[in-house]
Parts: sequence; structure tokens; C-alpha cells
Amino acid sequence: MIVVKTAMEIGRIRENGALVAEVLDRLGEAVQPGVTTADLDRMGEEAIRAFPGATPSFKGYNGYPASICTSVNDEVVHGIPSPRRRLEQGDIVSVDVGVHRNGWHADSARTFPVGEIAGESRRLLEVTEECLYRGIAEIAPGRPLGDLSAAIQEHAEAAGFSVVRELVGHGIGRHLHEDPQVPNYGTRGTGLRLRAGMVLAVEPMVNAGTATVETLEDDWTIRTVDGSRSAHFEHTVTVTLEGSRILTSAMEPVTGAREGQGAREAAPSAARA
Ligand code: MF3
Ligand code: CO
Repeated sequence: MIVVKTAMEIGRIRENGALVAEVLDRLGEAVQPGVTTADLDRMGEEAIRAFPGATPSFKGYNGYPASICTSVNDEVVHGIPSPRRRLEQGDIVSVDVGVHRNGWHADSARTFPVGEIAGESRRLLEVTEECLYRGIAEIAPGRPLGDLSAAIQEHAEAAGFSVVRELVGHGIGRHLHEDPQVPNYGTRGTGLRLRAGMVLAVEPMVNAGTATVETLEDDWTIRTVDGSRSAHFEHTVTVTLEGSRILTSAMEPVTGAREGQGAREAAPSAARA
């Protein structure tokens, strides 16, 4: 069942989304050679909890043991942060952050380079992020979900990469994972029609090699079978009357606001601890 949200409910998700964006900004700055993924988890959890009422969406979800997901190189998603996983120059790390507050979730991910990365990895990150925005560009009321899925798949495959099939994006709201499923592959003109007030987590997972993935013995980490690198970018997005709006970005100044009035949407200023 797809739950359509009211403007007020979307406002709550949007506040959480701004906090998610701030946390990802800070974690992106912290990503450098020598840092462990457990360090990132601690920083992420502290930054989330420093905001009153906010908790990490992932901790305890189906028994997930950490506050964020950190997936390195050939790990696709759901990597469990570990003090033994020290990031090295040339790695890539996908950082996935969810925040729950006031009964609502927001979910976003980015893949960061560790120091200088090789050309193919750079292209993988660029193309995967472009896939996310191309998918989002298809969102508008009345549009079939298959258009979004196809746009992501077409762009990844045109670059010589492949999209993961086993994991999909999702509706999000009072629950982290709601209907509908949002695949990163599909056929234009097919699938359910979007409606204003739907909130979707769009999250392309793109592999440099083949699409096949496997789950590690920890029962969480998803990895490419061929050992190729994988990237993941995710935004929580709502369908508006005109098109779409990304909820997991920094709050923007209100347009037309006069200089010096400090007119901004109330941004949760996540802990600068
Ligand atoms: N963004 C991921 C997802 O939607 C994060 C879930 S991690 C989990 O699947 F631990 F919460 F499952
Ligand atoms: Co998600």
C-alpha cells in the first residue's frame, strides 16, 4: 500500500532530510586515508543524536548493528562499519545515512573518493550520481515509475556499467521501507503512476563490472561477485504538483527574502561537535 503524505508530513521529512545532508557533508569531510569505517559510524551517530529527538534510522533495523552503512570498493551497500576497516588512498566508500525524528524517516547516500582515485572509479562515481539525478528528473504526477527506472538503467549501461537488480529504492515515511519498490532498471511507459505527495528513496547502485552481487557471511554486506567496484547515491524525494523536490539536501534560502533578514527555512543545525 502506497501512503501519500500531507504537506505537513513532507515538511517533517524535509527537516530530517536537511539533517541527513549535514551529516553526509561532515562525513564526506572526514573521509580520508587512515580513518576507519567505525570512526565514521561514531561521528555519524554523534552528529545525528546531537539534534534533539533525532536517532539513526538504521540502528536495530532488522537487527542492523550500526548507525550508518559504509561500503568500501567492491561492497555495494549495507557494509557494517568496523574498526578493522581502515580507508586507504584510492579507495571509494559509500556512506548511507538515515534519520528518524518526530515519527518520520529520511534516507540518503553518497559515495566518496578516499584521496585521489583512478579514472575509472572517478567515472563510476560521476555516472552513478548522474543516474540519480536523471531518475529524479523523470518524477512528476501521472508519470509511470518505469520511466524513472529506465532513465537510470540507460545512463549506467551507456557508460559501460551495470545496475544491481537485487536491491531497489523504496517508498519512505513513517517506515524506512514502504511501498512502492523503486527498481533501477525497467521499461518506459510501465509501472505505477506517480502521484503528488508520494515520497520515494531513489537509490541507484551501479557496478563497474557485472551486475551480480552476493551477501557476505555477516548477513548484511552486499558485494559484487566479480570484485568490481560499486557506487551508490540516494536521495529522498517527494512528488510535487509540478514535478519533484529533493528532501535530503541542505535547506535553501527562501527566494525573494531580503538580504540581512536571515529568512531561511528552519534548518536543523546538526551538531558541530
Ligand atoms: N538506504 C538503505 C536502504 O534503504 C539503508 C538500509 S540499511 C539498514 O536499504 F540497516 F537499515 F537496513
Ligand atoms: Co534507502
